[in-house]
Amino acid sequence: MRQWQINSNDGIDALELVETGSREPGPGEVRVKVHASSINFRDLSTIRDPASRNLPLPRVPNSDAAGEVTAVGEGVDGVAVGDRVASCFFADWEDGPCTPAAMASARGGAVDGVLAEEVILNARGVVPVPEHLDFVEAATLPCAALTAWNALAGVARVKAGDTVLLLGTGGVSIFALQFASIMGARAVVTSSSDDKLARVREMGAWKTVNYRVHPDWEKEVLDLTDGAGVDAVVEVGGAGTLERSIAATRVAGTIALIGVLTGGQIDPVNIMRKSIRLQGVYVGPRNLFLAMNRAIAQHRLRPVVHEVFSFDAARDAYHAMAAAGHFGKLVVRVAP
Ligand SMILES: NC(=O)c1ccc[n+]([C@@H]2O[C@H](COP(=O)([O-])OP(=O)(O)OC[C@H]3O[C@@H](n4cnc5c(N)ncnc54)[C@H](OP(=O)(O)O)[C@@H]3O)[C@@H](O)[C@H]2O)c1
Repeated sequence: MRQWQINSNDGIDALELVETGSREPGPGEVRVKVHASSINFRDLSTIRDPASRNLPLPRVPNSDAAGEVTAVGEGVDGVAVGDRVASCFFADWEDGPCTPAAMASARGGAVDGVLAEEVILNARGVVPVPEHLDFVEAATLPCAALTAWNALAGVARVKAGDTVLLLGTGGVSIFALQFASIMGARAVVTSSSDDKLARVREMGAWKTVNYRVHPDWEKEVLDLTDGAGVDAVVEVGGAGTLERSIAATRVAGTIALIGVLTGGQIDPVNIMRKSIRLQGVYVGPRNLFLAMNRAIAQHRLRPVVHEVFSFDAARDAYHAMAAAGHFGKLVVRVAP
């Protein structure tokens, strides 16, 4: 069996495809034949600079996989050979608030990830895959989808009639658009590309703003909401966008702080003046993943997959993410 490994601080092209041994699952573990693994911006950041994260090398990248259980270890309950499962981002976060122990179980970071033909995972660190999804689609769920779901359903508690602001058209934001739609919320979406904005309108976005054409995009968002601002923001931009997101949020609204796509500094005073609730989000626990999957199954929601790469060409998937031309998710098909 082969796995991709980060073996140096030299970036995408230094990733190595390595032949390693297969093993039987131990107590509480399952063996999964990986069919697909999706890429998140965080995987790209990890590959570019494992040293700053103090990662022991080699490290297998990626948190997100979907595949088929091929063996179960002693004492495993509720997972059987032949089950279609997805990995959880955190091997050990069942429910409740995030903990240091959960953070220490982040796959493709603190512990080995899943970009491999076969992985051994703890049985409590996998979930069943919604039946209507194929493996490529299911592989998009563990990080981007759950983060978007946690932001909207968990943190912002979005309800029908709310207005949400979504930044850009990457993996997290496109899931947030789909979830906002099934929650009955209206979405304002920003992007650098008019073509991508046309696509989000086709998907049901209420209003769109090109943040390149309108560098002061928060003013457009305020205009669209009659000066009031949005109820909630899925903030994937980070320091470079946060101050504008604060300006675009209504008094006593919520910002789910997720991303680090941009750098900069912020003046926090309007968080206080506007009584805004600013809440950090770190993906989410297994129970929330199960709840999200129920909603995905009920609405027969299909993830938006921009491009699928072969296992041997996995490096190209990270290059594609770095180029930022994608709309939705980039996925590596591991099993042909
Ligand atoms: N905290 C967590 O648990 C968590 C989980 C998942 C992701 N994240 C973070 O969230 C961010 C997004 O992740 P992702 O996987 O969705 O990334 P992604 O798929 O690579 O999304 C990139 C997109 O973000 C948009 N973007 C970039 N700069 C922007 C700006 N200044 N304003 C508005 N949009 C901008 C662009 O959209 P357009 O091309 O449309 O302009 C770009 O295509 C990353 O920082 C990632 O590390 C955090």
